[in-house]
Amino acid sequence: MSYDKLMDMILNSNYIVVLSGAGISTAADIPDFRGPYGFYNDPNVKAESVFDINEFKNDPSIHAKHFADFYAKMVDANPTKGHLMLKKIEDMGKLKSVITQNIDGLHQKAGSSNVIEVHGNIREYVCLNSPHHRVNSKDIEDKIKNGEVIKCTECDGTMKASIVFFGEHVQDLEKALTEIQKADLILVLGTSLTVYPVAGLPEYRKDHTKLVIINDQETSYDYDADLVLRDKIDTIVEKLGLVK
Ligand code: OAD
Repeated sequence: MSYDKLMDMILNSNYIVVLSGAGISTAADIPDFRGPYGFYNDPNVKAESVFDINEFKNDPSIHAKHFADFYAKMVDANPTKGHLMLKKIEDMGKLKSVITQNIDGLHQKAGSSNVIEVHGNIREYVCLNSPHHRVNSKDIEDKIKNGEVIKCTECDGTMKASIVFFGEHVQDLEKALTEIQKADLILVLGTSLTVYPVAGLPEYRKDHTKLVIINDQETSYDYDADLVLRDKIDTIVEKLGLVK
């Protein structure tokens, strides 16, 4: 029944905006953060400090070491059925943008055309001394995969992936907010909705805008949603039948 309701909501909408999180990429073997097999549940990882800007400035080697495998998984991954379903809904003329907390670039790999990467991406490394000193991650891939600290060839400063760390400003927040306000349906997929300000974005939707939350665990915004599907994203894809 819920799946029929979701399909009806999709078909009756003209401006769908997606808010995605790490759960849409777990089927591509990229770990999420707070799920049962998440990055932050790994006893070898000093939890959120791996992505903390002050810790990074203090000792970038901790981040570099823990990020190596994560990076390797992301660059080698292919889009999941969830990513492909969103592209399909875009092709139907319904989905207009994807706001993602993910840094893996899989929405773009799936062909989604308007992706707002609020937590940045792994395509480039940027020098802490100057935002103009940049390098394409592909050119330093071996070093990243080896867990090395990346040094700027122009000034010898420390370089960091162009992802948003705790203690830094989220990117394109206004653009994301504008999309949320244009939406007639917001699909939230695979996020625990715990990291602000992004988790609070759906609260800025217009009164008539419907909210659907698809996540295999409870989120603190379930109470606010018009429809909650506590399922694996692949199950939803299968039930909707939009992707083989
Ligand atoms: P989380 O790990 O916090 O949440 C992912 C959610 O997806 C969890 O509730 C999982 O149970 C659920 N999930 C996992 N696989 C799923 C599947 N196949 N189907 C359905 N649900 C599934 O990840 P995010 O909410 O994206 O920030 O985390 C937000 C931010 O926290 C990240 O962008 C990252 C992290 O610190 C930075 O790196 C700055």
